[in-house]
Amino acid sequence: MKSFQPEDMTSFSAVDIDGSMAYKLVSGLVVPRPVAWISSQNEAGLVNVAPFSSFNYVAHSPAMLAVNIALQDDGTLKDTARNIRETGEFVVNITPTSALDAMNQSSAEYPSDVSEAQVLDIPLMPSTQVRPPRVAVSPAQMECRLTQIVPLGTGINTLYIAEIVAFHVANMVYDGRHIDSVALDPVARLGGPFYASLGEIHKRSRPKAV
Ligand SMILES: Cc1cc2nc3c(=O)[nH]c(=O)nc-3n(C[C@H](O)[C@H](O)[C@H](O)COP(=O)(O)O)c2cc1C
Repeated sequence: MKSFQPEDMTSFSAVDIDGSMAYKLVSGLVVPRPVAWISSQNEAGLVNVAPFSSFNYVAHSPAMLAVNIALQDDGTLKDTARNIRETGEFVVNITPTSALDAMNQSSAEYPSDVSEAQVLDIPLMPSTQVRPPRVAVSPAQMECRLTQIVPLGTGINTLYIAEIVAFHVANMVYDGRHIDSVALDPVARLGGPFYASLGEIHKRSRPKAV
């Protein structure tokens, strides 16, 4: 293990950097990030699909996850955020490497009355407990119900916290006991336009205190 000295480091005090630099640093350093490919629906039933990597699971009793959805540059809500506020429901779909391009294309700013699923031909299947459908090219989907909306910082970012009310895992990924991460093949977001697939997998059992 290499130890670094203070002179080996470039340091930033939060008060000296602007929002775009803060974004560059935090999104480049908190990597690899899981991607929540979120399907949601407006009250009229139009299906929206978009990716979010400021995302993680935050509880397991019950299982809950949280996603930070920023405002658009013009200060308005993104379609996903508006749909979640309107309906309280969404689905987090795991993106396999084979769907990286479809997932990335769905991040383009389509008008609110356009369904990314339709325009990009993203296949869907019905959910079991929420109205928004699941993405059918995803090997695992989590149906979610909103529990809390937490405004963060200056108000540009908002954390949407939700309970997972149903899990769906493809049989090729789940053998009845374990999730096979290699079969799941989740895409991870790195800084800027970069993504990763799983690399070498290391096994370590939980140690006892010495
Ligand atoms: C891989 C990836 C991850 C993203 N993560 C986030 C995120 O965590 N929060 C966010 O507000 N936008 C994120 N975006 C941008 C949204 O996907 C983008 O603003 C999209 O147009 C929102 O779509 P909507 O208006 O249909 O909800 C991400 C984009 C990509 C490609």
